Formats: sequence, structure tokens, C-alpha cells
Amino acid sequence: MIDIHAHVLPSIDDGAENLKIAAAMCRFAADDGCTALLATPHQRTPSWWNCDPRKLQRDLDEVRAEVGDTPRLYLGGEIRVDASLLEALGDIEGSGVQPLAGSRYLLLELSRRGLGRLDPEALAHELRLLGWRPIFAHPEFIPDLSASPRLIEKMARSGALFQLTAMSLTGGYGRKIQRFSEKLVADGLVHFVASDAHDLTRRPPGLRKVHDALSRKFGRDRADQLTMKNPGAILANRPIEASAN
Ligand SMILES: [Fe+2]
Repeated sequence: MIDIHAHVLPSIDDGAENLKIAAAMCRFAADDGCTALLATPHQRTPSWWNCDPRKLQRDLDEVRAEVGDTPRLYLGGEIRVDASLLEALGDIEGSGVQPLAGSRYLLLELSRRGLGRLDPEALAHELRLLGWRPIFAHPEFIPDLSASPRLIEKMARSGALFQLTAMSLTGGYGRKIQRFSEKLVADGLVHFVASDAHDLTRRPPGLRKVHDALSRKFGRDRADQLTMKNPGAILANRPIEASAN
């Protein structure tokens, strides 16, 4: 399995507190069956800007030096969407925004405090026109999206991809979130499932449990698609296959 969303760079956001915990999280993921993991620190939020590519690379190298080759570690970012996102993407070197593993895939986070004047459907469309493949992180936790499956559908039709958090599907956030998440999978609106790991206990790494849960509920092929095949397409920088739905 390949985990495309994990906060395993030490001391730069609300993820791994230090290098020791960062390395332990990566080892935990490997022991749980993850062959590769994308380090996706928060980027462009008011608290965590994290847009110095050299520092991010140094942080990743530091973790890699502790962990070794398993899991393989790649750099990415969980990029907060704001009004100047398109401008930042027009100057990747200058802005320091991190696509996933150097691909055309972007892991985007919409604000939980409301979309304001942002039209996420238009944004998805615009990003696709510019050759990006936008993945919207955990729609189940974004009130404007969880309140409107219709908006999620419209975004998907405009080229948006969606990533659910593993624990949402395994019940760690309660039955309501679980039911909502399962419905999105059933409707073919989910393209990736990732840990969004922040630590070793409260929001831990690992995809085995969710792979088992997806296999039981939706079949092995769908579980593989969401945790292996589609994440693999990111590392290969090629389009994902059409949903099995
Ligand atoms: Fe995250």
C-alpha cells in the first residue's frame, strides 16, 4: 500500500513532534504494509507556511536517514487553498508549493471555516485546464462539502479527485462520518484513502485496517484501487484509472 497523506516531517506542523516520533511513524507504516509514504506537511496555512523547498527536502532526508528504504519516502504538501493558489502554482519554484512526489497531482485542503467566495468546482476546472490533477483532502471534514454531496459530485465532474481519511471509514470518527464516507465510496466519488497520520496514537499511520474494511464492504479490487493502484499512479505521474463504480 502507498500512503499519500501523512504528517511525518518533524516539528514543522501539528504532525510528528520530533525526529524520533517521525521515524517511528514511518516504521509503523512499513510494518503495517506501506511500501511508500508521502510526507505532506501543511503548506500555506496561517500557522504553517512551510514553503522553503530546501528545508523541506532536508527534513525529509533526515527522516530517511533514520528510516532507511522502507517505506520509500517522497515529498509533497497539503496545500491550503486560498485566493492566490493559482498564482503560486504558476511559479512553483518561487512559491515553494509542493506537488505530490514531483507529479502533476496536488493535495489540496479547503478551509473548514467556510469557502467564502471560493468556487471549488471552478477551481477544479481551472486546475485541470492548467494540467494539474487536484486531489481534495478529506471532504468528510470540510463542512461545505460534507453538507453537500451534490457539490462533491459537481466538483468530480469538473475533474476533482477526492481523498478520504482511513479512520473515517473504520469508524474512528463515529458512525455519521463513517456512513457519509462509505456513501462517497459507493457513489464512486473517492479516489484515494490515506492515513493523514499526525502521531502514533490519536491519528496513527497505517492502511491495513482500512484496506480490510474496504475489502469486506466493497471488494478487494476497490480496496486495492484506493490504497495501491491510484496512489501508484501519483508516483508514476500518470492518470488514475476510471473508477470501478
Ligand atoms: Fe493532513
